[in-house]
Amino acid sequence: MKMKRRIKIAALSMSIFLFASMLPTGTASAVEKDKSPGMNSNKLLNVAHRGASGHAPEHTLASYKLGDEMKGDYIEIDLQMTKDGKLIAMHDESVDRTTNGTGLVKDYTLEQLKELDAGSWFNEKYPEKANPAYEGLQVPTLEQVLQTFGKDARYYIETKSPEVYPGMEEELLRIINKYNLTGVNERSSKVLIQSFSQESLLKMHNLNPSLPLIQLISYKEPATISEGELQELTEYAVGVGMSASKIDETYVQKVRAAGLLIHPYTVNEKEQMMRLLDWGVTGMFTNYPDRLNDVLHGK
Ligand code: G3P
Ligand code: CA
Repeated sequence: MKMKRRIKIAALSMSIFLFASMLPTGTASAVEKDKSPGMNSNKLLNVAHRGASGHAPEHTLASYKLGDEMKGDYIEIDLQMTKDGKLIAMHDESVDRTTNGTGLVKDYTLEQLKELDAGSWFNEKYPEKANPAYEGLQVPTLEQVLQTFGKDARYYIETKSPEVYPGMEEELLRIINKYNLTGVNERSSKVLIQSFSQESLLKMHNLNPSLPLIQLISYKEPATISEGELQELTEYAVGVGMSASKIDETYVQKVRAAGLLIHPYTVNEKEQMMRLLDWGVTGMFTNYPDRLNDVLHGK
């Protein structure tokens, strides 16, 4: 068993070396990035989860900028919707955890939400990572993020709590169309749309069948998946995402054999990154895109 493991790690190191040798060299500028990593199965996707949220307050422009500098392939954005129908970047339905306010996003107008401090909590919670520049950061709208990073970036956007926000999918599609991010097919799209809600994804699929969709799956027990479930997924999704702690190599191989991408979350330790790559995942969500890039480059 140990011998098999050593052989697999050696094979992984070689594949990482070969993979690294195909990557562009030089600085982290957006123009040097692979322009079509999303559907290229040779490209292992580094998804900056809530930005580089291990280093900066999640879902702020500062966190997204850091993720971009650390060569994340995608900026991951969780969406909530304000009282006046604006899509904003936040993980929770409530503003309590990540701002100095209280209450639900749906009860705030955008103007009210913009008064909140979305950065100081991070300095208080992680004094060793604190930065005065994080004080007073605002909650960004989806449009602000897209305006800031433009078409050189790629966006991995999650419809959160869609049952709470009627019209969320239509508004999301309106915005990504406005910024010309959809492309003519799955391969050329600048966005991946993800959700735990199959209903929300099917709605997106019906609104635009060429949108690449990722079905997030929540497992309470070790993950299993049937041929029937895989078949159903391939009818509307290009891939799946689930907690990395719930899967094993057999699961990963079944998903890959069905032709689906698999992006586990949230993977922050290098050892786990290596193990998942060894199993054959096609990318992963991480709060530390710098660490994942180290692993992908054999460091
Ligand atoms: O979207 C992938 C992962 O982020 C799902 O979990 O709770 O961090 O949005 P969560
Ligand atoms: Ca998410």
